[in-house]
Amino acid sequence: MLVIHDLQELKNKIYEFKKENKSIGLVPTMGFLHEGHQSLIEKAVASNDVVIVSDFVNPIQFAPNEDLDSYPRNLEHDAKLCEKANATILFNPKSTDMYLDNAKTYVSVSDLTTNLCGKTRPTHFRGVCTVVAKLFNLVCPNRAYFGQKDAQQVAVIKQMVRDLNFDIEIVVCPIVRESDGLAKSSRNKYLNEEERISALVLNKALNLAQDLIQNNTHDIKTILDAMTSLIEKEQNARIDYVKAVNADTIEDIDSLNDNTLFALAVYIGNTRLIDNFIYRKN
Ligand code: PAF
Repeated sequence: MLVIHDLQELKNKIYEFKKENKSIGLVPTMGFLHEGHQSLIEKAVASNDVVIVSDFVNPIQFAPNEDLDSYPRNLEHDAKLCEKANATILFNPKSTDMYLDNAKTYVSVSDLTTNLCGKTRPTHFRGVCTVVAKLFNLVCPNRAYFGQKDAQQVAVIKQMVRDLNFDIEIVVCPIVRESDGLAKSSRNKYLNEEERISALVLNKALNLAQDLIQNNTHDIKTILDAMTSLIEKEQNARIDYVKAVNADTIEDIDSLNDNTLFALAVYIGNTRLIDNFIYRKN
């Protein structure tokens, strides 16, 4: 497996792969890879001739008050994981190469980015879409792999791909959880022992919603109220949002349908965690 930092070196490699008619899978990440990322890489390896994993903590998707500086990084560990998962290239560009001094172009998707995480993080998805569009242009992948844990990001990127005519299949992979149900996230590293236990409340609230639905409670407000009061009982937890939206348009809904995304963001101490599930009839 190759580790490439230089944009031109990556482009030269991609040129060779294309000449050899090889299919390319891209797994965009911000590094500090865990089993969730590994599942994306393995899925990509199964369906593509070559797999590029990008490892780049994208500064423009963090607001000034957020955790850009403390965001965990470990390139050596990431390279080992990629090697083990049979990725072809780990692409780790410098921020100053990705964003030249006089860069003035951003990609922003409207509407889908104003609800849920977009409310507390108004510039976040503009940063995500800009870097993902740049990675799409650099790598020209046939397929790109994203985790369902970032459900709003998935909807936004699918919309961007449609709107900008990227000829790329977006493959969405299921949430990977710890054995006690906590969704895998690089930010779990911030949790102390007590907070780690409190963090289980996110998954518990989603399970409660699923149980209520199974027992024929289909009123969205009743479900969201039950989730909210469960979370409010947890002393280290502070709710950012608990919502039910259409999984494609990210618009609030008031009655349950086959494409309902139950999504939540909760601060556990100072760490903001997200989790979700999509209600499907079968
Ligand atoms: O999901 C992430 O880790 C990031 O938002 C992404 C897609 C790699 C863009 O920086």
